[in-house]
Amino acid sequence: MPIPSTLTARSAAALTGVVRAPGDKSISHRALILGAMATGVTDIDGLLEGDDILATARAVEAFGAGVERLGEGRWRVTGHGGFRQPAGVIDCGNAGTGVRLLMGAAAGYPITAAFDGDASLRKRPMKRVTWPLADMGARFEWPGEEDRLPVTMSGGGLQAIDYRQIVASAQIKSAILLAGLNADGVTTVTEPVPSRDHTERMLRAFGAEVGVLPQASGWRITLRGGQPLTATPVSVPGDPSSAAFPLAAALIVPGSQVSVEGVMLNPLRTGLFETWREMGADLTVANRRTAGGEEVGDVTARHSQLTGVVVPPDRAASMIDEYPILAATAAFAEGRTVMRGIGEMRVKESDRIALMAAGLRACGVAVEEEPEGFTVTGGPARGGATVTTHGDHRIAMSHLVLGLAAAEPVTVDEPAMIATSFPGFVELMRGLGADIASA
Ligand code: S3P
Repeated sequence: MPIPSTLTARSAAALTGVVRAPGDKSISHRALILGAMATGVTDIDGLLEGDDILATARAVEAFGAGVERLGEGRWRVTGHGGFRQPAGVIDCGNAGTGVRLLMGAAAGYPITAAFDGDASLRKRPMKRVTWPLADMGARFEWPGEEDRLPVTMSGGGLQAIDYRQIVASAQIKSAILLAGLNADGVTTVTEPVPSRDHTERMLRAFGAEVGVLPQASGWRITLRGGQPLTATPVSVPGDPSSAAFPLAAALIVPGSQVSVEGVMLNPLRTGLFETWREMGADLTVANRRTAGGEEVGDVTARHSQLTGVVVPPDRAASMIDEYPILAATAAFAEGRTVMRGIGEMRVKESDRIALMAAGLRACGVAVEEEPEGFTVTGGPARGGATVTTHGDHRIAMSHLVLGLAAAEPVTVDEPAMIATSFPGFVELMRGLGADIASA
């Protein structure tokens, strides 16, 4: 099927059904990377087969690991206990997590690697990761603008550092810890508030000891260098950041009830669910269980009359990717939803504050934009706009969901980019009864 150049969502009848969330993107990147750093065979099931993850699979193969697709979501990584010299450029596509974690992992080995990405990734800041890695001893050359891809890194001979983050970022923390595995001494990262801890959990599953010391706020994480990783099976739970889209549609389309099975419920990822509940969402969790070292459950959303809330800024780390879809649901809430302390949103796949503000305004929703946040005043959104996504998958999906409940259709450009994190999004939504089409 040719990929359409736009997609349009129209107000639908009630959405109903039970679906499965695609595999978690953060855990999928980590499973491939740790599998490649380890010794032995890592069998992964439930791997997200989105474009971001396929780029990381190609990257770890270029770094010398064996990578085989055994079936849908079932992948085998054969690690040789470290990365080897790659032959060509490591193209990370659209994936910020991919490139930053790969740089951290590769920094520990005596190899030279050139990293690059697509037009969006080339606009995103990289010094936040290369600066601490350089402090550990990695060397960087920037053929163009410093801080922006492409960059060539030479690794090996690292010394541990004690790094204090100003803004909580799991990508930076993870890059430093992965480098720290092959550094001399004990590497320490202190976060102002806890960020997603998938790297720490998975390092333990691969046999490494990781210390976590709670601080007045946030955590101090320690890792001794020189610990070998041993291959272990990884079962990837469903991605709460992707589950958010069908659940959001159920909350705002009258008469709807949608369940998403197998959603990861790691408390460092569920800030959106907490916020929706504060807004009055009918959101329930059944069948709580543990899968792949993470708590998962089946989440059901029913159409709800939402009320605007002030989202506590210290919740940002646990829902940083979810503000676009929160804003889309806030457009149907009564009153104001205030989102602050989220300046990081401006350096994601796009400037997400600016694009959500522009898209929502085009759909007739009142938005006040601030340097580090925005406020959405709800009321039924009119829709009737074509939204520029700048190739950002979450901006596209958020506006399509909004279009399902708006008075007039909503069209998004560059819908092919949705496949970076949620391949099959349109089919899954159509299966629930959504009217999303290419004209
Ligand atoms: C991620 C961390 C977050 C998030 C990204 C995935 C990760 O980025 O936005 O989509 O897997 O570690 P930051 O660490 O930059 O906040």
